[in-house]
Amino acid sequence: MNADAMQTTAPIQTSSCAAHRSHKSHLYPIDAFDSPHPSDNSRFQPSPPINPVNPDKSALLPDKCPINFRYAGDKSRYTPDKIPVPRFPPLFAFSAFFRIFSDETFELPRHFRHIPLPMPARRVLTLARTMKTIFFRVQLLIAAAGLMALAGCSKQPSTPAGNTDGGAAAPAAKPAGKKLTVGFSQVGAESDWRVAESKSVKDEAAKRGIDLKFSDAQGKQENQFKAISSFIAQGVDGIILAPKVETGWDQVLKDAKAAKIPVILVDRGIDVKDDSLYATLIASDFVSEGRMAAEWLAKKTGGKANIIELEGTPGAAPAKDRKAGFAEGIKGYPDMKIIAAQSGDFETGKGKEVMETLLQKFGGTVNAVYAHNDNMALGAIEAIKAAGKKPGVDITIVSIDGVKSAFTAMVAGDLNCTVECNPLLGQMAFDALDKSIKGDKLPKKTVVQDKVYDQTVAKDVIGSRQY
Ligand code: AHR
Repeated sequence: MNADAMQTTAPIQTSSCAAHRSHKSHLYPIDAFDSPHPSDNSRFQPSPPINPVNPDKSALLPDKCPINFRYAGDKSRYTPDKIPVPRFPPLFAFSAFFRIFSDETFELPRHFRHIPLPMPARRVLTLARTMKTIFFRVQLLIAAAGLMALAGCSKQPSTPAGNTDGGAAAPAAKPAGKKLTVGFSQVGAESDWRVAESKSVKDEAAKRGIDLKFSDAQGKQENQFKAISSFIAQGVDGIILAPKVETGWDQVLKDAKAAKIPVILVDRGIDVKDDSLYATLIASDFVSEGRMAAEWLAKKTGGKANIIELEGTPGAAPAKDRKAGFAEGIKGYPDMKIIAAQSGDFETGKGKEVMETLLQKFGGTVNAVYAHNDNMALGAIEAIKAAGKKPGVDITIVSIDGVKSAFTAMVAGDLNCTVECNPLLGQMAFDALDKSIKGDKLPKKTVVQDKVYDQTVAKDVIGSRQY
């Protein structure tokens, strides 16, 4: 049967394509394919659509009709969306070959079987059908293998539940006895406190047989981003982060969470929209430290002081909170005034520089220094000495951290008071990480308790200081 024969034997469908659209399921009535006599081939001829543009040409224009009429419910009702036109048998065979592969049905379309094709074309079709059978069986085998693999995976220990509070989704439990790998992103080594914190984490990792990947960001937040991304790429089991500043962490922590790597914050808090991006924060209460420093100074000066405030790194939690806490602490003392405030970036050298500058301006009036950390206070002591004044006597100095060199300065009479801020966070950080990996619930913050030390006790306690 050629194309012309198909045209003449096919019943003409009188409705337009638009009408067919409303007739959603079939362009050709199903009845047309429900032959009671399978030998009656004429019943299988689909009705061609009318050319809606030019009804006169109501001949076969299947490609022009926007509706795809392919499948009427079961194989016996199958109809192709394009009517084959075997004008050129090799081309027809070629197109049929691809149609078979692209159809959902597994059989040769019925009407093909009634088209007298030359032997080579028939062979091509038979080959196509055989290949499709093989292809189908290979697919079945792959699917079966996939199902078996899935079943195997589901037998492994499942991710611990109940980590709602613990931040990042808990990673799969590490097989017992396997060495943990942990990344530690440290801000830098700007202060004695920071060095002590790094040592604490490193010592604790060594004690626990943890493979610690330590990264010193040298005071740059972008280096911390790079370090965390690298930890993620290396597939560490957990990350300990001492963040430089509060903001900007969302994306990199989202990446860690997506990789199911728990993040433990130590020392400084962060400001993120979603606090599930980290498991927990272990830190001192910096506001309270500032308040304690203010209260001690108020007592020492009888509530009268012209204060120079040496601030920490702009944007860092301890700089913001210690400032706020101190301001709160001196609120009730109208004669305690901050006459100048400037950042010394938590460093001895910068603390000295800033103090030198401010002494030139306010040397005549200043009688107290409040430094956000001991190292800046130690720098200020050098500047005060260089200016010919007696630190600890002419100018009362209070700072925060409680590092050993501050105790030495107190014993020498140069520094008056330090508010402790404990940097020995290694043990707590790894305990928290272990819990997080196990899926245990963690508090969002664990506050480390601090104490005030001044010259009156310095000599007695200096020997027992661990950092
Ligand atoms: O975040 C803790 C602070 O950072 C310490 O007070 C300071 O010394 C450090 O650099």
